[in-house]
Amino acid sequence: MAMTENKVIMQGTGLTKTFSSGDLVVEALRGVDVTISRGEVVAIIGPSGSGKSTLMGILGGLDSPTSGNLQVEGIDITTMGENRLAEIRNDYIGFVFQQFNLMPTLTALENVALPVQFSSKPKFNPRQRATDLLTRFGLDGRLRNRPAQLSGGEQQRVAIARALANDPPLLLCDEPTGALDTENGDLVMETLFQAQRDLNTAVVIVTHDPRIAERADRRLVMTDGRFVDQS
Ligand SMILES: Nc1ncnc2c1ncn2[C@@H]1O[C@H](COP(=O)(O)OP(=O)(O)O)[C@@H](O)[C@H]1O
Ligand SMILES: [Mg+2]
Repeated sequence: MAMTENKVIMQGTGLTKTFSSGDLVVEALRGVDVTISRGEVVAIIGPSGSGKSTLMGILGGLDSPTSGNLQVEGIDITTMGENRLAEIRNDYIGFVFQQFNLMPTLTALENVALPVQFSSKPKFNPRQRATDLLTRFGLDGRLRNRPAQLSGGEQQRVAIARALANDPPLLLCDEPTGALDTENGDLVMETLFQAQRDLNTAVVIVTHDPRIAERADRRLVMTDGRFVDQS
């Protein structure tokens, strides 16, 4: 590890999540502690149903924990109102899902520019930022293409550029290569590591791909709503 100390971006303590509908109660998270620091890649692995996506939703402020505390750069977001929380999400956190979720009627460039246009305090010119990121990821020949005109791997790289549009310190990726073949999955994996290298973004990746887990700085293993192991 280098001599520079890595700043903590996100810290979750004692996070639990219980879903109940009628008589059925599912304890999806049973007390998770997690710390994410600037510029690290963390892989989260574990069997289906173990609570990985639930945790990602909570870390991203898309869902609230049943109990526990979550801080983003020292700010407690568990008690925050929805407007302020939406600002935190927009400025601090990028999301990448298994399905790319691009806007079908917008071009690649317009998809990436959109979050900058919606930022309450934009750091960039939207089209310039979109062009820069897409060029960085080798998609400069695809700026004017709509999602349907792009391969799955290209769409996911556009989605990564979109998630990075406002220069968030943290990127949360839930099975980002899960819908892709090996070749496209590899390109997407390289793009995520490039974000870490070039932009110093912390990247948390839920994955079943051992090659991604292998290359991550740390691996956290989730089973039955808890981290049972790390390496
Ligand atoms: N909205 C929900 N309502 C009820 N149960 C849920 C909901 N979301 C997830 N669960 C349950 O929580 C557990 C963990 O799910 P999930 O976080 O999606 O696991 P993973 O991503 O590791 O496959 C599962 O038993 C799942 O059925
Ligand atoms: Mg999941």
